[in-house]
Amino acid sequence: MSGLGSLFFLTSFSLILYLCQDFISFKTHPMPIIAPSILSADFLNLGKDIEMLNNSQAEWIHIDVMDGVFVPNISYGIPILKAVRKATTKVLDVHLMIVQPERYFETFRDAGADILTFHYEASVHVHRSVALIHELGMKAGLVLNPHTPVNVLSEILPDLDMVLLMSVNPGFGGQKFIENTYNKIAALKQMIHATGKNILIEVDGGVDLTNAGKLIQTGVDVLVAGNTVFSSKDPKETIIQLLASR
Ligand code: DX5
Ligand code: ZN
Repeated sequence: MSGLGSLFFLTSFSLILYLCQDFISFKTHPMPIIAPSILSADFLNLGKDIEMLNNSQAEWIHIDVMDGVFVPNISYGIPILKAVRKATTKVLDVHLMIVQPERYFETFRDAGADILTFHYEASVHVHRSVALIHELGMKAGLVLNPHTPVNVLSEILPDLDMVLLMSVNPGFGGQKFIENTYNKIAALKQMIHATGKNILIEVDGGVDLTNAGKLIQTGVDVLVAGNTVFSSKDPKETIIQLLASR
């Protein structure tokens, strides 16, 4: 094989390996993923909490961005995300609870987001927004509020990497889990199965040690947990218990 031929072969081989790795790491998880939400972290000691997560079995860190317009609360934004990015190599799962989210996709990518999820209820051009997130090199997730039926996803589902089902009304940590979420998970699981794709289901709000097992059994791939992790006396152990819930 000529020098150029070998180079072409090696480059193609590396590219295929890279794509497979990406597929494996995001799409086929034998275990559920725990994504602690730093909304419930100690902001005066955020570095310590990120270090604790770095040493934990949580694979993702969930970042809740609220604008005081789409939801009745304001949390944090770009500077916090940048700081967290510097302190961890974990997957940063950024949940945008903001109006006109597409205006900020590139900024969040530059600040370190790996996954961007935005609300169906806050977006007029969902298909365009999903394409833009992919063009920017991130995974794309669409979020549904508790009242939004999963069948609104019928046309966009194959384009998504993940669906985030809100199991509380967005805006605050520490709220009570809404039981109807189980019905939505089951219906969504069937819709995903019909696409033939491995699209992740994430659930966010009121997740604790009493419901994590049923959520995993019903088909959830990613459990967001704020209060349950950060109000625990032993957050790392709580993450292990959430993971082991069945
Ligand atoms: C709510 C946020 C959640 C919240 C979850 O609007 O999207 O991520 O932090 O908090 P807990 O787990 O405490 O319900
Ligand atoms: Zn969230």
